[in-house]
Amino acid sequence: MAKILLAGGAGYIGSHTAVELLHAGYEVAVIDNFMNSSPEAIRRVEQITGKHVALYEADVRDREAVAAVFRAEKIDAVIHFAGLKAVGESVKKPLMYYRNNIDTTLTLLEVMEEFGVKNVIFSSSATVYGEENAVPYIETMKRGVCSNPYGWTKAMMEQIFEDAAKADPALSVILLRYFNPIGAHESGMIGEDPLGIPNNLMPYVTQVAVGKRECLTIFGNDYPTKDGTCMRDYIHVVDLAKGHVKAVDYIMHQHCVEVFNLGTGTPYSVTEIVETFERVNQVKVNHVYGARRDGDLAEFYANADKAERLLGWHTEKTLDDMCRDSWNWQRQNPNGFQAAE
Ligand code: NAD
Ligand code: UD1
Repeated sequence: MAKILLAGGAGYIGSHTAVELLHAGYEVAVIDNFMNSSPEAIRRVEQITGKHVALYEADVRDREAVAAVFRAEKIDAVIHFAGLKAVGESVKKPLMYYRNNIDTTLTLLEVMEEFGVKNVIFSSSATVYGEENAVPYIETMKRGVCSNPYGWTKAMMEQIFEDAAKADPALSVILLRYFNPIGAHESGMIGEDPLGIPNNLMPYVTQVAVGKRECLTIFGNDYPTKDGTCMRDYIHVVDLAKGHVKAVDYIMHQHCVEVFNLGTGTPYSVTEIVETFERVNQVKVNHVYGARRDGDLAEFYANADKAERLLGWHTEKTLDDMCRDSWNWQRQNPNGFQAAE
C-alpha cells in the first residue's frame, strides 16, 4: 500500500488524518518539530488504529533532515500541514510566519523533486478568498486580498504550488481549502490542543466549559446576520480528515492540479455554536457579547459541490456531533496532551 508523508502530522488536523489514512490501509510517516504539538498525539494515533506510524522529529525547513526521511521511507505522496496558523500572532510576527510557512513549502517541494515524488496535497484555507468574494465561496473565484500575514502565506503557497506544477507537468497538486475545523476523534483520545490562550472559538468554548477560563467573549453582535453574530462553516475534523483520504485516493490515480473547498456548505452563528454546545453537553458556557474583532468577516461558507463531484466526498457529521466530540476530548484531557508527555 502507498506510503503517505504527513509534514506537520502530529498537529490537530494531521493526527486525525493519520487515523483515517491508516484505517483506509495507507502507511503513514510523520515529520514534525512539535512546535505546536506533542509526540503523544502520534502515540494515541497508534493506539486508536493498532498500526505503526514512522515518526521523525525534525524541522521541515531543514533540507538535510527532510531528505533523510525520504531516503529512509519510500514516499508516494506528501500532505503538507506544517505551518503556523494563529492569525493574530501573524500580524505581530509577520516575518516568523513568512519564514516558517514559505520555507517549509519550498523545502518540501525541493526534496520531493530530488527524490522524484510527484504527489502533494496542501492545507490551505478559506481565508484565501479574501474580503471581496461573495458567499458561498467556490473554487472558480480568484484569490482575494487577505486580511493578515497568515492568510497571505496561504495565498503565496498556493501560488508556489501552482507555479511548480506548471514547470513540472508530472507534478500533481491538490490544494484543500479548509473552512472552520472543530470537533475531535470520537474516542476523545486526540483533539485540538492549543498552546496558551485559544484564538479560535471552539477551544475557547471548551476551556470555559471545563473551568480553565472564566468567560467567552462573543466578538460582536451587530453583524448583518440572523442573530447579529458572525456565521462560519464549521466542519468536523474527522470529516475533514476523510476528505484528505479521498484526495490521496484521487491523486494516486491520476495526474491533477486541483483546488477543493472542504466545508459543509451550512453556516452557523457564534450564538448557535454556544447554544448547541450547552444543549448537547448539558454544560454551561459563560459568555458576554463584546466588540467586533478586527479582520472578522460577517459570514463565509463553502460551496463544496466540487469535492462531492470529483472526490466523492461529503460531510457526514452534524453540529451536535462536533460539539459533543469537542467536549468529550476536552473533558478527558483538561490539559491537552501535556499530562501524558
Ligand atoms: P497544528 O498547529 O495543530 O498543526 C501544525 C503542525 O505543524 C504542528 O504539529 C506543528 O508542530 C508543525 N510544524 C509547524 N511548523 C513546522 C516546521 N517548521 N517543521 C516541522 N513541523 C512544523 O495546526 P492544524 O490546525 O492541524 O493545521 C494544519 C494545517 O492546516 C496548517 O497549515 C494550518 O494553517 C492549516 N489550516 C488550519 C485550519 C484550522 O482551523 N485548524 C484552517 C485552515 C487551514
Ligand atoms: C480564522 C481565520 C482562518 C483560519 C481559522 C483557523 C481569518 C479571516 N480567518 O477563522 O484563516 O483558517 O481562523 O485558524 O483570518 N469568536 C468569538 N470569540 C472568540 C473566538 C472567536 O466570538 O473568543 C468568533 C469569531 O469572531 C468568528 C468565529 O467565532 O466569528 C470563529 O472564529 P475562529 O475560530 O477564530 O475562526 P475564523 O476567524 O473564522
